[in-house]
This record gives sequence, structure tokens and C-alpha cells, in this order.
Amino acid sequence: MLVVSTEYNQVLAENIARALRCPVGGVRFTRFPDGEHYLRVEETDGEMIIVGSTPDADAFIELLLLVDACEGSDVTLVVPYLGYARQDKKFHEGEPLSARAVCRALSQGVSRVFTVNVHDPRVLSHFRVPSHDVSLAEEIGRYLSSLPLEDPFILAPDDGAARFAAAVATPCKWESGHLEKTRISGEEVRMEQRSLDVKERDVVVVDDIISTGGTLVSAARMLRDQGARTVSSACVHGVLAEGSYLRLLAAGIHHVACSDTLERACSRYSAGDAIARMVRECS
Ligand code: R5P
Repeated sequence: MLVVSTEYNQVLAENIARALRCPVGGVRFTRFPDGEHYLRVEETDGEMIIVGSTPDADAFIELLLLVDACEGSDVTLVVPYLGYARQDKKFHEGEPLSARAVCRALSQGVSRVFTVNVHDPRVLSHFRVPSHDVSLAEEIGRYLSSLPLEDPFILAPDDGAARFAAAVATPCKWESGHLEKTRISGEEVRMEQRSLDVKERDVVVVDDIISTGGTLVSAARMLRDQGARTVSSACVHGVLAEGSYLRLLAAGIHHVACSDTLERACSRYSAGDAIARMVRECS
């Protein structure tokens, strides 16, 4: 078994390989003069694990090329961050069902697919091969336990993420709950007023994605108005669009952490062990 990755997940690929006790294979990446991607895998094996998040179109193309380069092997595809998963409905006439389009394309030439905290697990039904979603709730709980937080209150920004917040909190015997979010536009959200027992407490907002940070900024404003001592955030995928990391700190968020599904300076916990465990269980 050999693990290879796109340029986007080198650290995570190494962590997965270490957990699976198998080597990481080399891949050379460059571009043609017109900007098209070129890659070459240095070696293949009968069983290949290909790792590649798809935060943008270049990452997506690299991943498709990598799968094609491993033709002839039994390929397990790991897409730690599945881009386009949030367009999981046709919200307006004439729109694509983007999540379906990417899942179909990524099903070609692979035997099974693993994602990590995909925005809505129903999206997995669009893959044409067996697929599994890995949760990092345990990793996030363990990470938060290492911080100097006193009896933190774990909150999801909306009821859709409430189960995730509970999965982070329960093993550590912390309280969890959720806020009520209404999305107004891609960048703007409204938090409905809810009275929560946050006075003088360390609150951590957990979510699958931090993108523009709009969700967190509104949540933090409301929680601080209700007397929270600190508001921190721990998410799975640090998309951190439009410089949102610094905006979050400027908005008074005490601590921002994400996993290595996207490699960021604030990647504090790895998805490697959880992915390796699920790959072992489901292959
Ligand atoms: C949406 O439902 C997701 O779970 C996240 O809450 C959302 O993607 C965060 O986006 P943003 O950081 O742009 O508010």
C-alpha cells in the first residue's frame, strides 16, 4: 500500500501513512507553459491511497490527474475537504447541483471514497462508489482539553451542527448547545437572540467550516453581549476566505483552530489517525 497526495495535503498524507504504517510515494508537480497542470507519480503499488482536498479548481484538477496517473491500481480516494459540497441543492432555476457534479467526477477510477465532516453527509449519495465520512469531533474535544479553558460551553452556530457540538462535548463531560443562524447572503448571517447560560464562561463555537468568518463574528458578538468570558472557535476545515483569520482575531475571537484537511498556520489537530482508522475498518 502506498499513499500519495496532491500538493495541498502533504502533511496530512504523511500523518495518514504513519498511522497506516505504509510509505508515502513521491509525486512531481509542475505546469506546462500555458498554465496546465503536469504531474508524475514516481512509483505506484497495487493498492494506492490518494489524498487531495478540493478547495479550488486547481486542486480539483490535480486530484483528477493523480487518480488517472494511478490507473491499474486499486485506488482509495481521500478527499479531506470536499469543495462545492455546500451547493447541495439547486437553489435557483438554471443552477448546477455542484456537489453532485464533483462527486460524480471524483468517482471515476476509484474503488471507494472517504471525506471528512462533509457539509451534509447526504451529499455522499452522489458518489458512484462506496463512500464514508469521517468525523473529527473526538480530535477537537481532545485538543480543547489541552487548552486552559474552564468548563467550556461548546456551541454550534445552528441546529444542523448541534450533533457535532454534542459529539465534541460529551466525551469531555462539557455542556453543549446551539445558536440559531439565518444566512442572508454568502458573507452575511443573522444570529437570532437566544438566552444561553454563558455568563463568565469560556465558550467555544465549533463548526465544519470557517469560510468568510461571518458566522463566527455574529456569534461572538451575541455571546459577548450575554457576558461570555471568552469566545474561541474550533472547526474542521479552515477555508479562511478573504483573510478571515485576522478578521476573526480583530473581532475579539480569543483562539481560532482548525484541522489539517486544509494546511493552515492555525492547523492544530490532524485528521490523519481518524482517516486511517476508517480506511482500515471499511476497506
Ligand atoms: C454552513 O452552514 C457551515 O456549516 C458554516 O457555518 C459556514 O460555511 C461558515 O461560513 P462563514 O464562515 O462564511 O460564515
